[in-house]
Amino acid sequence: MRFTIAIDGPAAAGKGTISKGVAAHFGFAHLDTGLLYRAVGRRTLLGEQPKTAALALLPEDLNRDDLRTAEVAQAASRVAVVPEVRAALLDFQRAFARRAGGAVLDGRDIGTVICPNAEAKLFVTASAEVRAQRRYLELTGNGSQVTRDQVLADVKERDARDMERSEAPLKPALDAVTIDTSSLSIPDALRLAIEQIQLKI
Ligand code: C5P
Repeated sequence: MRFTIAIDGPAAAGKGTISKGVAAHFGFAHLDTGLLYRAVGRRTLLGEQPKTAALALLPEDLNRDDLRTAEVAQAASRVAVVPEVRAALLDFQRAFARRAGGAVLDGRDIGTVICPNAEAKLFVTASAEVRAQRRYLELTGNGSQVTRDQVLADVKERDARDMERSEAPLKPALDAVTIDTSSLSIPDALRLAIEQIQLKI
């Protein structure tokens, strides 16, 4: 079976949790495309040029523990505005999307650019304050020394960069179903997502 589920939305809206849950529910493979940009961003922090870093990306770059830091997230959103970086990552994402057995991809431009023909599209969002609070708990839980205000400023800066870039900006596809998780529990958000996808299967 070839069935692609595109899940887009801003940082810390719950995309990752929902995508993993949806993939487990339907028995599909899951790709967190943010990791690709984080891996490129991490390489640029070590001195590489964004385009060179994107072309040199190796599978082991995606399995590193240090991709989840606030610094790497900012570097990811900076390399994500570079058209050559996006182009270098395109084929890998499209091939993943069409693999046999079904695929869930989550990111910013899956429903609009990477998989415009995806069978199901969700746009998962939440208020900036709620998202910043979630990210704050996640980062401090990992031992990062950050303040709530810093995390909120970071989230807003990344949102602005992701939405305002000319190449593949963050926005819902016209045919995406929006799920606002601001006041939803994880199980409720996941249930809603599965119900919506079930309608397309
Ligand atoms: O999803 P995550 O927060 O890990 O993504 C890190 C950054 O990578 C985002 O802020 C965004 O700039 C970029 N990104 C993107 N397109 C995607 C996934 C992530 O531009 N499909």
